[in-house]
Parts: sequence; structure tokens; C-alpha cells
Amino acid sequence: MELLDGKAISKQLREELKEEVEQMVAEGHRPPHLAVILVGSNPASETYVNAKVKACKDVGYESSLLHFPPEISQEILLNTIDELNENEDLDGFIVQLPLPSHIDDRTVIERVLPGKDVDGFHPINVGRMALGLDAFVSATPGGIVELIKRYEIETEGKHCVVLGRSNIVGGPMSILMRRNTYPGNCTVTIAHSRTKNIKEVCASADILIAAIGKPEFVTADMVKEGAVVIDVGINRMDDATRERGYRLVGDVAFAEVSPKCSYITPVPGGVGPMTIAYLLNNTMIAARKRK
Ligand code: GUN
Repeated sequence: MELLDGKAISKQLREELKEEVEQMVAEGHRPPHLAVILVGSNPASETYVNAKVKACKDVGYESSLLHFPPEISQEILLNTIDELNENEDLDGFIVQLPLPSHIDDRTVIERVLPGKDVDGFHPINVGRMALGLDAFVSATPGGIVELIKRYEIETEGKHCVVLGRSNIVGGPMSILMRRNTYPGNCTVTIAHSRTKNIKEVCASADILIAAIGKPEFVTADMVKEGAVVIDVGINRMDDATRERGYRLVGDVAFAEVSPKCSYITPVPGGVGPMTIAYLLNNTMIAARKRK
């Protein structure tokens, strides 16, 4: 069993981006600039947003954090998005999800200019990605693809089971793994909460990508000997022995599953760091276009 070290690979990717920023600046261009909109104070969202802002700083990007109170109206949020769309000092921006229930996610996502949608959530980017055209690929699936690539994991002809069908992870992940390029060329099955024989389906996977949002859902009996397991879950489990009162666990029961795998991502230190690095990568793609 080999660990897919997302922390190390994300560092590699961030180092490459940092070098590119230095070159850009040496050539007289401004560094890439990412803005992040956060509404309210969901603790997990605050953690992610702070990590994104810090990651920008570490690679030499400019970043702006726009933090709004939870009662902000949809109209003000949409007006802010319009301003960011027009702001030429900015290469891309994201609106951290989830949003409070009085705001409609879809309306917000569709207001972001596709060329600045470095989260890759706009239907134009999702559609272009599905067609294999130039597009922003959302950060978690994009980061997973990068991890598979850099470990040179074989994907062609393999059975890839994607557990979860969310718009952010499961949906785009399934599309990427069936593309006729590397990594891809898989036979893809999407399994989810309504799948009847979910254990058997998972156990038939050569590559299992778990993004179902249930702590330690995937147990050893659901994993084939020699499978590649990618764990997208980041779940907080109460743990009185930890200073912060919880520990992070994935969607995979790591201790019992890992001995069966050829490769597996740890939680933390697997997919999470790759997601952030890939957001920086998308921001660089946006910045290159105005150079
Ligand atoms: N919430 C959970 N993951 C993400 C992400 O990748 N981007 C945004 N904007 N919100 C999220």
C-alpha cells in the first residue's frame, strides 16, 4: 500500500506556481489576484477560506477576502459579484458554499462571469468541461486528477466507482474519469444514497472515489484487493482527547481499508491540500490570459 501524499504533491504544484509568479512579476506584470466571498460564519467554511487566503500569500498571489454577515440580501451579494466581474485588478473569485438558505445558490453561481469562475461551478464551465473543451475544472475533481497524474496511476479500462453525485465533486469527477484522455478512459459507475447494492458496486471498483459525506462509510468489505481509493470526505468527529474537541475523518474507514489498497489518500493530507492547490492553479490559468 502506498499513500497518495496530497500534502507533498500540492507543495510541488504550489512551488511551480510560485516560480511562475516570480517570472510574471520580473516581466513587469502584476501577480495573480483571487478574491473570496464568505457569507456568515460557518466554522468549516471559515477554516477553508482562511486556508485559501493563506495559500495565496504563500505563492505570492494577491488575495481579497470579502466577509459578509449572514443576513446580507441576495441583491447586495449579486451587486458585489457584478463589481468583481468588472474589476480588472482581479483574475478570479469564488463564493464559498454553502450560503444561507435565503440566498439561491444557483442564481449566485450563474452571476459569476465564466472567465472569472475559478471554482468552475458556472454551467458554462461545467458544460465545456463535460464536452472536453477548455474550461475551469472545479478544484476538488481537478486536484484529484492532478494527484492521479503525478503518481502515474493507470486508469485506462479500469472500473471507476464514484460514490456521491454532488455538483461539486461526484458529478464532475465521473465526467472526468470517463474522458478519452489520461487520466480517464475508465468505465464509470456513480453510486449514491439510493443505490441498492452499494457494497457490491463499491467492491467491484478498481478505482473508488468516495465523496458521500458520511464518516467512515466505506469499510473493508466494500473494497477490492489492490484497489486505488481516493477519500474526499472531511468529517468532524467529536474527540475529547483533542484540544479542539474533534478530529477529522474521511468517508473511508482508513485503518481497516488501507491494507487492501494499492494506493490510498489519507485524511487529512490527501485530497484537501490538492483542492486548495488546484484553486491556485485555476487562478493562474485566469491570470495567464491577461498577460
Ligand atoms: N464548499 C465546499 N467546497 C467548496 C469549493 O470548492 N468551493 C466553494 N466555493 N465552496 C465550497
